Amino acid sequence: MAVLRFPETDQKLENEAAIRGELAALGIDYERWSLDRVEADASAEDVLRAYAEEIEEMKRKGGYVTADVIDVNPATPNLDVMLAKFDKEHTHSEDEVRFILAGRGIFFLNIQGKVASVEVGPGDMLCVPKGTTHWFTLCEDRRIRAIRWFQQTSGWSPEYTDAGVDKNFQPLCFGPTYVGPRVETSIRG
Ligand SMILES: [Fe+2]
Repeated sequence: MAVLRFPETDQKLENEAAIRGELAALGIDYERWSLDRVEADASAEDVLRAYAEEIEEMKRKGGYVTADVIDVNPATPNLDVMLAKFDKEHTHSEDEVRFILAGRGIFFLNIQGKVASVEVGPGDMLCVPKGTTHWFTLCEDRRIRAIRWFQQTSGWSPEYTDAGVDKNFQPLCFGPTYVGPRVETSIRG
């Protein structure tokens, strides 16, 4: 279940219908999909087969030509290099569509003059339309597995805004694994 925040005004939404409504007003599609089609450790091929109907429906609706499964975890080679590509404010010329199977991450959307952060987790489907100014970061466990859709088989490349907006927002996750801020204690004898 996603958590939608507007950090500049301290607003936080955790209700599915409210999140869908707020995001729809910003031109962002958000849906909840069932996760019970496959076991958590299913192969990418099994995942694509299990969700074939939804994948084809999305292709019809959005003009996507291909889909794959991305799987990122702390053991992924060059993970920091990969994340650095995503975590600076950018746009690209095709939609960024993700159905999250495992792990958590945050999409920051700089849209209609304000920044929204959408923390996504298992079962969340989010479509960030092409041209939307955004950036993405993983939560602390640096893990995400998702189905992705593409409008071109050649892949996309980010166009960075270099506005530095991303530096003003803490990439903190507050979902199910959040246990509150760390409290520093000092023990005095
Ligand atoms: Fe992106």
